[in-house]
Amino acid sequence: MNLQWYPGHMTKARRMMQEDLKLIDLVIELLDARAPLSSRNPDIDEMCRQKSRLLLLNKADLADERKNQAWSAFFQEKGFHVAKVDSRSTAQVKFIHNIVREACQEKLERDRKRGIKNRPIRAMAVGIPNVGKSTFINTFAGKACTKTGNRPGVTKGKQWIRLNKSVELLDTPGILWPKFDDPQVGTRLAMIGSVKDEIVNIDELALQLIAYLKAEYPGILQKRYDIEESGEPVQLLEAIARERKCVKKGADLDYGKAAGMILEEFRSGKLGRITLE
Ligand code: G4P
Repeated sequence: MNLQWYPGHMTKARRMMQEDLKLIDLVIELLDARAPLSSRNPDIDEMCRQKSRLLLLNKADLADERKNQAWSAFFQEKGFHVAKVDSRSTAQVKFIHNIVREACQEKLERDRKRGIKNRPIRAMAVGIPNVGKSTFINTFAGKACTKTGNRPGVTKGKQWIRLNKSVELLDTPGILWPKFDDPQVGTRLAMIGSVKDEIVNIDELALQLIAYLKAEYPGILQKRYDIEESGEPVQLLEAIARERKCVKKGADLDYGKAAGMILEEFRSGKLGRITLE
């Protein structure tokens, strides 16, 4: 599967990000915990030099907890502030507030030394499409937060949400583009649903997912679909289609329907908590 991202999109997204970044102290970068490398923008580190950084392994509720911990450690070792989150959960708001404050600490300290007081830290959530940016902003900002409106020195139209005394969050996320150079990246992004299904071969994608699950999560397909896990991926797909009564008119098995169902059940967590990387 060879997916392409349009260079036009990329240039525009990059330009917009660079404009927004001028206003920002803290970059809150969202990754999909099920594929933290593939869902990471390739240019972000270079674009965000000089900025405080917080990395969120979002959708951690759908990902393998053991791997969540391993990926957290991996990024921490690289010097990032890291947290694994479920952006839909309002129960995590306080926890995120604390992490954000921690990530801003250095910047606040620097300001203090320079005699700058009471200047709020400005933050922006960034990430590739579908990673959960809007969900994060909605949950994190909540209804109680006041929008600060336009101010001198802030691009017209930009809205800031005051989170607390020291942090303001831009109400629109920065949209980043994924890196499709490696076909595996495109495949993983398609599996987690970050690439439109219309442009991928669903049957092929489901077969690759079956092969991965069989190798990395033995027993998971057997448990969900009550099938034997022996044989080639196509044989497993056939068994699943039969088991779930995916049939066309005339009683032929409907592989496309079975493939779509497996992908949906993986994406929604019905197959269990699974990480692809
Ligand atoms: P974006 O702004 O980055 O494009 O992503 P958005 O917030 O629109 O989220 C994309 C989808 O991911 C949404 O589901 C959202 O509910 C879901 N999502 C976001 N964060 C999390 C998380 O931490 N855990 C889980 N399990 N899901 C998350 P959707 O199916 O597109 O919409 P809906 O069915 O929720 O309405």
